[in-house]
Amino acid sequence: MPYPISYISAHKIAPCKYLDKKAFQLDDAQGFIWPVKRVSFGRYLALQLADMAATLYRRLAEDALIAALADTPVVLIHGPRQCGKTTLALQVGKRRRYRYYTFDDAATLAAARADITGFVSRLEKRAILDEVQHIPELFAALKPIVDVTRNSVRFILTGSSNVLLIPRLSDSLAGRMEILRLYPLSQIELERARPSFLSTLFSEAQSFRHSGVLGKSLAERIVRGGYPVVQKRTAKRREAWYANYVETLVQRDVRDLSHIGSLEALPKLLTLAASQTARLANLSEMASEFELSRPTIRNYLTLIERLFLIEFLPPWFSNRIKRLIKSPKLHFGDTGLACNLLRCSAAELDDQRELLGQLLETFVFGEIEKQASAHLERIDLHHLRDKDGYEVDIVVQRGTRHAGIEVKAASSVREGDFRGLKRLRELLGSRFHSGIVLYDGEHVLPFGERLLAVPLSSLWARALRTAATVGQSK
Ligand SMILES: Nc1ncnc2c1ncn2[C@@H]1O[C@H](COP(=O)(O)OP(=O)(O)O)[C@@H](O)[C@H]1O
Ligand SMILES: [Mg+2]
Repeated sequence: MPYPISYISAHKIAPCKYLDKKAFQLDDAQGFIWPVKRVSFGRYLALQLADMAATLYRRLAEDALIAALADTPVVLIHGPRQCGKTTLALQVGKRRRYRYYTFDDAATLAAARADITGFVSRLEKRAILDEVQHIPELFAALKPIVDVTRNSVRFILTGSSNVLLIPRLSDSLAGRMEILRLYPLSQIELERARPSFLSTLFSEAQSFRHSGVLGKSLAERIVRGGYPVVQKRTAKRREAWYANYVETLVQRDVRDLSHIGSLEALPKLLTLAASQTARLANLSEMASEFELSRPTIRNYLTLIERLFLIEFLPPWFSNRIKRLIKSPKLHFGDTGLACNLLRCSAAELDDQRELLGQLLETFVFGEIEKQASAHLERIDLHHLRDKDGYEVDIVVQRGTRHAGIEVKAASSVREGDFRGLKRLRELLGSRFHSGIVLYDGEHVLPFGERLLAVPLSSLWARALRTAATVGQSK
């Protein structure tokens, strides 16, 4: 019988509240039986797990990775450099005795390039192959091995650029490979809380939990962003890290991916993209800023999209409804990196309300996207804008039901803030589940049929206080 969590608490291991039962059951499933007599072994293991849990944030993607490995020969984790792919692969793989190879290592890469078939045929049955974007030929080489030994091999691949955008690559392992997207840390992961926002959003009662007003700490969260390494750094030390980060990207990944001549333009383009976050992608405007042609700008953007540094949120679209604007919205991948490129501190962001509005929208979009990626049901995200000026920042779709989210960087909400959501309610009829305005306030407030104002902290709050829906406002 596994030791109950309370047993471990009795040993005063401070962070044991982070150890959920699942972690223990998992190890049980791996064959660890924890007999009551072998206290020292049990305690040792508990200490080790507690230690890990104390220093590492638990990733939302961990369960999906374990589930995928149970029945799929190849699992690819991809996401931006430094978001935690290797750490996650090692954490899951080490318990299961995976051998680790990284193509960031020049010797390993050279050996694999010289004889990819030989390299692959000598692989152990369980292996982690890190940074596979350096060696695209790996995908085709893995195919015969996976086909022959179908259920006895397991490979975890990681990649810092999006192989899905290179069709012939992922095609070669179609049906044999599952792809997991990893993001920089979400607020849920940072708070070591469980995601409940999306299920609450689509519930009938919609009793959102929250922790009240965020005030200045909101800008701090935005400026800090989600890269694990910067979490405990001071603002000054973060700056140094980001400078190095952009430099490495340009030197390593961009060179790998493209033959674009002027790499110097890239940091400037990234900065421009950061300033345009949460706006409709406007290629002409960007092209004129750089005195480059539209196709060239498009190539640059494709490149930084492939490195997971920016994303395009597609427009919500319906054939029946005219007057919808069909441009995607640009969202920068991480608000911390964006603020660093824009040289904007938390205090400055708090002062620049327009920029705060943009970055807050991107921050909320990121949080919802991260939680959606770990949600059991499929969630699709869009934005809505029409030619009459109605807008909804994020349209969340689960099955046939839709919820609209508007983001407001203010501590109060007015009737007018629901204009776009009302339009969405009209357009969708019975497929409209609810519309909420996320704002930095204290209360959940009803604003008419299926419309609520909800504090921003509900995105990640633990059950600190139940969000009692308080009196009618307006
Ligand atoms: N879950 C986590 N909790 C705390 N720190 C993490 C976590 N995942 C990664 N890190 C830290 O972030 C840095 C980058 O992680 P890494 O796994 O190397 O990223 P990637 O492989 O995506 O480039 C490392 O210093 C690592 O220790
Ligand atoms: Mg790595």
